[in-house]
Amino acid sequence: MNQASTFPRETPLPDLCAGNRSRRWLNRAAQGCFAAIGIGQLLFLTFILAFYYPTTLRGDWAEWNRKPLIDGFREGDFTGNLFFAAHVILAAVITAGGLMQLVPAIRNRVPTFHRWNGRIYMMTAATLAVGGLWLVWGRGTYVTVVGAVGISANALAILAFAGLSWRSSRARRFVQHRRWALRLFAVVSAVWFMRVGYMAWAIAAGGAGIGKSMDGPFDFFIAFGNSLVPLAITEAYIQAQARQHELACYGVAALLVICVLVIAVGSVGAWLMMWSPYL
Ligand code: HEM
Repeated sequence: MNQASTFPRETPLPDLCAGNRSRRWLNRAAQGCFAAIGIGQLLFLTFILAFYYPTTLRGDWAEWNRKPLIDGFREGDFTGNLFFAAHVILAAVITAGGLMQLVPAIRNRVPTFHRWNGRIYMMTAATLAVGGLWLVWGRGTYVTVVGAVGISANALAILAFAGLSWRSSRARRFVQHRRWALRLFAVVSAVWFMRVGYMAWAIAAGGAGIGKSMDGPFDFFIAFGNSLVPLAITEAYIQAQARQHELACYGVAALLVICVLVIAVGSVGAWLMMWSPYL
């Protein structure tokens, strides 16, 4: 199969890993991992909708600060507060949009929805990235410079991958488009993964390496790891599917099972400690 070949719009993408046992394991592990991501991101979405939407839409912006934030609402800073408001409103749009984009049944049965949702997803991703850069460097919302550089690198990766995903889709190179879209999803999910990663690590390692001012070794690792770890795992999955090497398929399947455990522990932790106490 020529990987660069193009497909008519309605044709589902080929299942590159169907057919033998290692590939079936890889597919099952990937489905399990997407399910764990789906549940974890639904918890994040629930928190955004239940906490930020009512406070923001009511105009009760000082309420944001009931939750520990770096800046949140600042008296007299209309522009900064407006950017924050737009950011949290769009955070729900992108989280919901990304999850719907990954469901194969929606992709294959309702291609028009997939295309429109994809356009909205890419535009929202770019807006969040640019707005986030302004919050960090314009408003000065950061605790450490390493953290600020890490999240800025994430914003640049979002912009680059959104562009590459859009370009390959325009050129109808759907195999490449699927790969860029998966990479985009990985970096867009970085902010969620950072929260889940903190919680999983805090539970597993008792908070070792987490500094009081977010300046410990783990803080510096996660500042870049929030993008690089999901991206590396996504890449391993893409390559295992493309090469169809038995050992690689088993190896990546095992890696994805570990991811399911980390995501499950981290998501429950994030819900219990970071999100539900403020609802
Ligand atoms: C693309 C997906 C993104 C989502 C879903 C997202 C989501 C959120 C949410 C929910 C908050 C509220 C804080 C909280 O309750 O935890 C927030 C705050 C913030 N975000 Fe994002 N964000 C994204 C991307 C970015 C990017 C790329 C940057 C920076 C370049 C960024 C910078 C910020 C900053 C500076 C704050 C304020 C934090 C504070 O005051 O404590 N975000 N984001």
